[in-house]
Amino acid sequence: MILLKSLKEIAKMMVANRIVAEILEGVKEKVRPGIETQELDELAEEMCRQRRVEPAFKGYRGYPRSICVSVNEEVVHGIPGTRKLANGDLVSLDFGVKYDGYYGDAAITVAVGKVAPEALALMEATEKSLYAGIDQVKVGNHLTDISHAVQTVVEGAGFGVVRDFVGHGIGRSLHEDPQIPNFGPPGRGPALQVGMTLAIEPMTALGSHKVRILKDGWTAVTQDGSYAAHYEHSVALTENGVLILSRL
Ligand code: MF3
Ligand code: CO
Repeated sequence: MILLKSLKEIAKMMVANRIVAEILEGVKEKVRPGIETQELDELAEEMCRQRRVEPAFKGYRGYPRSICVSVNEEVVHGIPGTRKLANGDLVSLDFGVKYDGYYGDAAITVAVGKVAPEALALMEATEKSLYAGIDQVKVGNHLTDISHAVQTVVEGAGFGVVRDFVGHGIGRSLHEDPQIPNFGPPGRGPALQVGMTLAIEPMTALGSHKVRILKDGWTAVTQDGSYAAHYEHSVALTENGVLILSRL
């Protein structure tokens, strides 16, 4: 069941998501060679305390930290720890908070120092695919118009789009209906309606889209070891069109 939100609810989600964007920006600024991924987690937690918001991921299905830091072939759900980032790493940061009962969720991919040109191209195509998906969020379209737009951009650039993880509705829960695949034919699924709040999150790979989960039970990596990227925005469909909530 897709839960439609009132403008008042969307306003709260905008606050939650702005805070997510702010914290992601703060963490991004701290990304540099030599930093341990757990230091990024500590910064995200500190920024949550300052803003009196709850990190959304900590404890979610037993996830142990507040942010996901996924390096190179890691696609999503990388757990922060003592690993030090190095020049040339490609790092995806995925973060969410709960504010006044509502969730915010967003992700970005960041280059550490000088990265391989193909990694930069993957980042660019993935971010572009996110915006192509967001452009499809309008009354008259169906859910998989988003999916198809994302896939078209990613595969058009020659990259793989991950199948095993999807975007989702968001609101009073971090994950609500509907699931939003990043691939598939257009024109299917529920009609998009005013009041829908969606987290759109393409996950991509330089090579094959196939992934596997590491023994930690969380970290998803590309099977072929190729670089991965991940961008996510939470958006709302309003009378005035789509509103990107998780933007500064
Ligand atoms: N953006 C990711 C998602 O929607 C974040 C979840 S991480 C978890 O699935 F740790 F909370 F699972
Ligand atoms: Co999400």
